[in-house]
Amino acid sequence: MKSVADVPDVPFDSQETPVVLTSELRKVYRTGFWLNEKVVSLKSCSLKVYQGETFGLLGPNGAGKTTLFKLLLGIIRPTTGKGILLGKPIGDRSVKQRIGYLPENPYLYDYLTGWEFLQLAAGIFQIPSSLQRQRIPQLLDLVGLSKIDARKKQMRRYSKGMLQRVGMAQALINNPDLVFLDEPMSGLDPVGRYQMREIILTLKQQGKTIFFNSHILSDVEKICDRVAILAKGELVCCGSLNQLLGTANTYYVIGEGGDWEILQKWLPNIESKLDGSWQGEVQGDYYDFLASLRLMGGKIINMKLFRPSLEEFFIKNLQK
Ligand SMILES: Nc1ncnc2c1ncn2[C@@H]1O[C@H](COP(=O)(O)OP(=O)(O)OP(=O)(O)O)[C@@H](O)[C@H]1O
Ligand SMILES: [Mg+2]
Repeated sequence: MKSVADVPDVPFDSQETPVVLTSELRKVYRTGFWLNEKVVSLKSCSLKVYQGETFGLLGPNGAGKTTLFKLLLGIIRPTTGKGILLGKPIGDRSVKQRIGYLPENPYLYDYLTGWEFLQLAAGIFQIPSSLQRQRIPQLLDLVGLSKIDARKKQMRRYSKGMLQRVGMAQALINNPDLVFLDEPMSGLDPVGRYQMREIILTLKQQGKTIFFNSHILSDVEKICDRVAILAKGELVCCGSLNQLLGTANTYYVIGEGGDWEILQKWLPNIESKLDGSWQGEVQGDYYDFLASLRLMGGKIINMKLFRPSLEEFFIKNLQK
């Protein structure tokens, strides 16, 4: 397993100051009637997210992802440790104008229309009405809600996916430099997920920094520059996909025939299949392996360049 120490913390494409920096951030909740029980939600979390990066935070339920977001956003206070956001200590009010946040379970007022809700959010940021009239339709268009009549339809009549989209529009109402998205794909259908990925990529093109968490690993794999895995409040690993998964330079082959003992040397994880064929990853030079196989009288049925998926990596790391 690659630990944080193993993975060099290479800044994404730049040597710039991180826009998010946490240093041994820790959160212990006190629970129980006498507040005498402790729940350690986050243990000594140190990470950096750089300008313009799309950073994905992964972890099973209860790992501490939302806790980390809440700490960074100043919604809860750390027990110990420090954090810096856009150059200011966490909780500093002056940077809030530059931050957007899509909460895990956004509370959206049932009896407001999507438009009214966005007006409300814009009012909190003191965005002038003229700019609101310009920005709200743009955002509704961006999140794919321009077709429903967001001016008239109250949000109690929205589907889960539509609410998620309004939540996203709300997170962007102040044109933030740094956006926190807590499970932005949750509740979306495949088209909605695709659109959400496109929105995130559009934000990235605009130079925004996106810090998000999701359980949909295939989405994370498609859009993230770097990822970190949290488990039981602890950072298990952090790095770019190439650093964590390796580049696709291993061949995965399915073949038949040959000498099993020699094959085992070439394919240490070789498995035989019911139909008499075998499969495994080639260790060593692929062309030398092919020559050796020919000499043994074996043949290749299928082969592909291989690197583990983020899902395989995730499961493997959490099982350790
Ligand atoms: N207000 C609270 N009081 C006590 N414990 C809490 C509180 N909020 C969170 N926890 C605990 O902290 C731990 C981390 O919770 P958190 O919500 O950060 O997890 P998560 O990684 O976001 O999970 P999920 O993927 O399910 O959203 C859990 O054990 C949870 O029970
Ligand atoms: Mg959560």
